[in-house]
Amino acid sequence: MYSRWALHHLPDFWKALALDRMRGILRPGGILRLMDIVYAFEPSQAEERIERWCATLPTEATTDAVWTRRDIEEHVRDEHSTFTWLLEPMIERCGFRLEQIDHSDDGIIAAYVARAV
Ligand SMILES: C[S@@+](CC[C@H](N)C(=O)[O-])C[C@H]1O[C@@H](n2cnc3c(N)ncnc32)[C@H](O)[C@@H]1O
Repeated sequence: MYSRWALHHLPDFWKALALDRMRGILRPGGILRLMDIVYAFEPSQAEERIERWCATLPTEATTDAVWTRRDIEEHVRDEHSTFTWLLEPMIERCGFRLEQIDHSDDGIIAAYVARAV
Protein backbone atom coordinates (compact mmCIF):
# COMPACT_ATOMS: atom_id res chain seq x y z
CA MET A 1 0.00 0.00 0.00
CA TYR A 2 1.41 3.41 -0.92
CA SER A 3 0.33 6.82 0.40
CA ARG A 4 2.07 9.84 -1.11
CA TRP A 5 1.36 13.53 -0.43
CA ALA A 6 -2.08 12.65 1.03
CA LEU A 7 -2.02 12.16 4.81
CA HIS A 8 -1.19 15.85 5.37
CA HIS A 9 -4.69 16.68 4.16
CA LEU A 10 -6.00 15.23 7.43
CA PRO A 11 -5.71 16.69 10.96
CA ASP A 12 -3.83 14.34 13.35
CA PHE A 13 -6.99 12.77 14.80
CA TRP A 14 -8.10 11.75 11.30
CA LYS A 15 -4.53 10.73 10.36
CA ALA A 16 -4.68 8.16 13.18
CA LEU A 17 -8.06 6.89 12.01
CA ALA A 18 -6.80 6.66 8.43
CA LEU A 19 -3.71 4.72 9.55
CA ASP A 20 -5.90 2.43 11.62
CA ARG A 21 -8.08 1.75 8.58
CA MET A 22 -5.00 1.12 6.42
CA ARG A 23 -3.81 -1.36 9.07
CA GLY A 24 -7.23 -3.02 8.92
CA ILE A 25 -6.86 -3.55 5.17
CA LEU A 26 -3.38 -5.07 5.34
CA ARG A 27 -2.60 -8.64 6.36
CA PRO A 28 0.05 -9.09 9.08
CA GLY A 29 3.43 -8.54 7.40
CA GLY A 30 1.84 -6.28 4.76
CA ILE A 31 3.78 -3.13 3.83
CA LEU A 32 2.68 0.52 3.92
CA ARG A 33 4.95 2.96 2.08
CA LEU A 34 4.25 6.51 3.17
CA MET A 35 5.79 9.71 1.84
CA ASP A 36 4.68 13.18 2.77
CA ILE A 37 5.57 16.63 4.03
CA VAL A 38 6.39 15.88 7.67
CA TYR A 39 8.55 18.23 9.70
CA ALA A 40 11.72 16.75 11.24
CA PHE A 41 12.62 19.66 13.52
CA GLU A 42 11.74 21.19 16.87
CA PRO A 43 8.92 23.75 17.26
CA SER A 44 11.56 26.37 18.18
CA GLN A 45 13.19 25.80 14.75
CA ALA A 46 9.95 26.00 12.75
CA GLU A 47 10.14 29.64 11.69
CA GLU A 48 13.73 29.37 10.47
CA ARG A 49 13.21 26.00 8.71
CA ILE A 50 9.97 27.01 6.99
CA GLU A 51 11.55 30.29 5.85
CA ARG A 52 14.54 28.36 4.49
CA TRP A 53 12.10 26.08 2.57
CA CYS A 54 10.08 29.02 1.22
CA ALA A 55 13.26 30.78 0.12
CA THR A 56 14.03 27.90 -2.26
CA LEU A 57 10.98 28.72 -4.38
CA PRO A 58 10.16 31.56 -6.79
CA THR A 59 7.46 34.08 -5.95
CA GLU A 60 5.89 33.58 -9.38
CA ALA A 61 5.25 30.22 -11.10
CA THR A 62 7.72 29.38 -13.89
CA THR A 63 7.84 26.51 -16.36
CA ASP A 64 10.48 24.86 -14.15
CA ALA A 65 8.98 25.52 -10.74
CA VAL A 66 5.66 23.77 -10.14
CA TRP A 67 5.40 25.25 -6.67
CA THR A 68 5.78 28.88 -5.66
CA ARG A 69 6.60 30.44 -2.31
CA ARG A 70 2.91 31.28 -1.92
CA ASP A 71 1.97 27.59 -2.36
CA ILE A 72 4.27 26.63 0.50
CA GLU A 73 3.01 29.42 2.74
CA GLU A 74 -0.54 28.20 2.01
CA HIS A 75 0.46 24.62 2.76
CA VAL A 76 1.97 25.55 6.13
CA ARG A 77 -1.01 27.78 6.98
CA ASP A 78 -3.96 25.64 5.80
CA GLU A 79 -2.83 22.00 5.52
CA HIS A 80 -2.13 19.55 8.34
CA SER A 81 1.51 18.53 7.98
CA THR A 82 2.74 17.43 11.41
CA PHE A 83 6.08 16.67 13.08
CA THR A 84 7.93 13.39 12.54
CA TRP A 85 8.11 12.90 16.32
CA LEU A 86 4.28 12.93 16.39
CA LEU A 87 3.61 10.92 13.24
CA GLU A 88 6.13 8.11 13.81
CA PRO A 89 4.71 6.99 17.21
CA MET A 90 1.23 7.36 15.67
CA ILE A 91 2.12 4.97 12.85
CA GLU A 92 3.39 2.45 15.42
CA ARG A 93 0.37 2.99 17.69
CA CYS A 94 -1.84 2.03 14.72
CA GLY A 95 -0.27 -1.41 14.41
CA PHE A 96 2.79 -0.89 12.23
CA ARG A 97 6.52 -1.40 12.85
CA LEU A 98 8.64 1.29 11.20
CA GLU A 99 11.32 -0.61 9.23
CA GLN A 100 12.70 2.36 7.29
CA ILE A 101 12.64 6.06 8.15
CA ASP A 102 14.10 8.67 5.81
CA HIS A 103 14.04 12.41 6.57
CA SER A 104 15.13 14.88 3.88
CA ASP A 105 18.17 16.98 4.83
CA ASP A 106 16.00 20.11 5.11
CA GLY A 107 13.65 18.28 7.49
CA ILE A 108 10.59 18.85 5.23
CA ILE A 109 9.88 15.47 3.59
CA ALA A 110 9.75 12.06 5.27
CA ALA A 111 9.42 8.59 3.76
CA TYR A 112 8.58 5.42 5.64
CA VAL A 113 8.39 1.70 5.11
CA ALA A 114 6.03 0.38 7.78
CA ARG A 115 5.16 -3.28 8.29
CA ALA A 116 1.76 -4.35 9.63
CA VAL A 117 2.26 -6.30 12.88
C1 LIG B 1 -1.46 16.10 -3.41
S1 LIG B 1 -2.56 14.86 -3.99
C2 LIG B 1 -1.49 13.45 -4.09
C3 LIG B 1 -2.01 12.48 -5.12
C4 LIG B 1 -1.15 11.25 -5.34
N1 LIG B 1 -1.06 10.42 -4.12
C5 LIG B 1 0.25 11.60 -5.78
O1 LIG B 1 1.19 11.13 -5.16
O2 LIG B 1 0.39 12.30 -6.77
C6 LIG B 1 -3.52 14.57 -2.54
C7 LIG B 1 -4.54 13.48 -2.71
O3 LIG B 1 -5.17 13.25 -1.44
C8 LIG B 1 -6.56 13.06 -1.64
N2 LIG B 1 -7.28 13.43 -0.41
C9 LIG B 1 -7.31 14.62 0.19
N3 LIG B 1 -8.12 14.58 1.27
C10 LIG B 1 -8.58 13.32 1.36
C11 LIG B 1 -9.46 12.63 2.26
N4 LIG B 1 -10.01 13.25 3.29
N5 LIG B 1 -9.74 11.34 2.03
C12 LIG B 1 -9.19 10.69 0.99
N6 LIG B 1 -8.34 11.27 0.09
C13 LIG B 1 -8.06 12.57 0.29
C14 LIG B 1 -6.88 14.00 -2.79
O4 LIG B 1 -8.02 13.57 -3.43
C15 LIG B 1 -5.64 13.85 -3.68
O5 LIG B 1 -5.80 12.80 -4.59
